[in-house]
Amino acid sequence: MRAVSTPNIALIKYWGNRREDWRLPAADSLSITLDRPNVEVDVQPSDAFAVRSFDLAGNENPQSEKSVERLKKHWDLTCAYGESIVHAGIMPKRVSLDIRSSIPPSIGIASSAAVFSCLAEAYAGLMGGTKHLTREQVSVIGRLGSGSAARSAMGGFVALENVGGDRMDAARARQIAPASHWTLHDIIIVPSREEKKVGSTEGHALAATSPLFTARLKEIPRRMKECIAAIEAKDFEKLRVISEEDSLDMHRVMQSQNPPLQYLSDDTHRILREIEALRTNDHLEVLYTMDAGPTVHLICTETSRNAIIAFAESQKNCTVFKASAGGGSTIV
Ligand code: PMV
Repeated sequence: MRAVSTPNIALIKYWGNRREDWRLPAADSLSITLDRPNVEVDVQPSDAFAVRSFDLAGNENPQSEKSVERLKKHWDLTCAYGESIVHAGIMPKRVSLDIRSSIPPSIGIASSAAVFSCLAEAYAGLMGGTKHLTREQVSVIGRLGSGSAARSAMGGFVALENVGGDRMDAARARQIAPASHWTLHDIIIVPSREEKKVGSTEGHALAATSPLFTARLKEIPRRMKECIAAIEAKDFEKLRVISEEDSLDMHRVMQSQNPPLQYLSDDTHRILREIEALRTNDHLEVLYTMDAGPTVHLICTETSRNAIIAFAESQKNCTVFKASAGGGSTIV
């Protein structure tokens, strides 16, 4: 079973869980599914659980023991969930995974979201695809491996919403609008290709140690409402204000956790200052948002795109990726 998927970029961030083992998020979140870079997986029934991973050039990238462990745990959770919603014995006993990714790991382009949504799509395919599973159920499988992966199961503008209760499917994705609703682009500036020391899984688990975490959770329902209204009305200025507020708020929580997580670098702050000056001077529709890394995502409209690309490409010692809103995970 072969599937393909892509990352997403959150406008209202997911940070912290209410249940760690099932990655039930502490609050709702909202993102734009991107159209690239791609991850492709091939899942085959096998005698033993096995993982091979390749980069864009086809070179094998051996996975760390920790990431194989995470993939195996995700497989076990998927089997338990699959059996609960379809029937016992629906899944093969073991599988082998071939993962082909064009995303450099751990640089703030959600590679885990793309990988786990891609696996979710392939695993759902093994369960009989759309005959058995809804898009919401595919999103639940993605979420069991990486919370943000739930949102790449759908295209365009996607919320990950808690529906209450303590079940595996108590948080699932919902499409707010397809990619065609509003042409937005994500110009991604990567100042460092160094792998980050603390990943988001460990970070989520300590979010509640921040004295700012409770206040953040209280603000999210309002931000979600405003973000959805801005998307529906295609009101870029409203989207900018709410997204930047939320991204900076998440980083304040990260920085005040115990131990503190400082994902933003001097380069990040310099890029933000420059983009603030540029957009004021040139009246550009662009907003910034950062995930768990120094990478700056510049979300912009069609009319501002060329100017933002020129700005990104003028940054020294940075790698630039260009993406747009896309369609989400699918079987190939
Ligand atoms: O899905 P995870 O566990 O990699 O968490 C991702 C968290 C952020 O990227 C920082 C925010 C988000 O909503 O994508």
